Amino acid sequence: MSFRTIEWRDNKVIMIDQTRLPGEEAYNEYDDYRSVAEAIRGMVIRGAPAIGVAAAMGIALGARDIIADTFESFYQQLCNVCEVMAKTRPTAVNLFWAIERMKRTAEVNREKDIPTLREILREEAVRIEEEDLEICRAIGKNGAELISAEATILTHCTAGGLATAGYGTALGVIRAAHEAGKNIRVFADETRPWLQGARLTCWELMKEDIPVTLISDNMAGFFMSKGEISCCVVGADRIAANGDTANKIGTYSVAVLARENNIPFYVAAPLSTFDLSLKSGADIPIEERHSREVTHLQGFPLAPDGVRVRNPAFDVTPARYITAIITEKGVVMGDYENKLRELVKR
Ligand code: MRU
Repeated sequence: MSFRTIEWRDNKVIMIDQTRLPGEEAYNEYDDYRSVAEAIRGMVIRGAPAIGVAAAMGIALGARDIIADTFESFYQQLCNVCEVMAKTRPTAVNLFWAIERMKRTAEVNREKDIPTLREILREEAVRIEEEDLEICRAIGKNGAELISAEATILTHCTAGGLATAGYGTALGVIRAAHEAGKNIRVFADETRPWLQGARLTCWELMKEDIPVTLISDNMAGFFMSKGEISCCVVGADRIAANGDTANKIGTYSVAVLARENNIPFYVAAPLSTFDLSLKSGADIPIEERHSREVTHLQGFPLAPDGVRVRNPAFDVTPARYITAIITEKGVVMGDYENKLRELVKR
């Protein structure tokens, strides 16, 4: 990869600042957990798996600063750090998955002395990052098999290296198909209001010379109806037990348009994005973000002052619109209710 989304270096967390892309490739340094939490909330780092990695590294930073004589006191303070992380963004379940993994790691090592425990937590956070990269490569390999030798793939938001530890989920599938020598072209929805598609997907794909065409969100149906789109591949923030999938706002519209136009609609996600404790997508908490993201563009007002605004950051695509869910353990097509549970146990 020609950039690094997040890494642990010299006792600091380094992140590429996604609020400044594509204009500037700047890297921020964080050395306390509260500023990492702020970076997640403020979208310096975003995308479900990347949020999970950032939370784990933030917790490791928090653990480093805990002063305690006993495991009980250490663990109590660690839980306080985790609580701050948990309040950053509600939809991407990878955040809560990473928090639980870090807490469990502390618990199973309760016999260790405090300096050793701190080091174990740091190692676990780095392991989460390393594993995510491997997982994305496996998702890419599994998904590339679904892509034909010549394909124009529409994607929404950015589920690329910037949204993960690197390589990406949806963009991982695209990368793997491209690396396999397939003739791949990408249509990137701009993804209002935060413009992840325009700012990040295009930046990432252009960096690697994967042909990409930017369209505004309301153009997707036009190109589908003209027969210009072979399939859609998107990422996910949370997948319920029945396969209903929360992803960036606008994904649902893309899925419905794909069905209307007989175009396969694929979701690519790691198992850490599954939330099998939820029966359906109706139970997924949907983040509502600040109205200013809708009314302003880089500080410039687009709407009359004081206008009423709604800004849900995600929507839920019902499982019936999803042709397949691509994971690191394989591809699931239909009957998600049973097959997702089987996949997790494999
Ligand atoms: O609000 P964001 O930018 O964090 O939303 C990101 C998405 O919706 C992504 O598609 C999803 O997290 C998958 S990332 C591999």
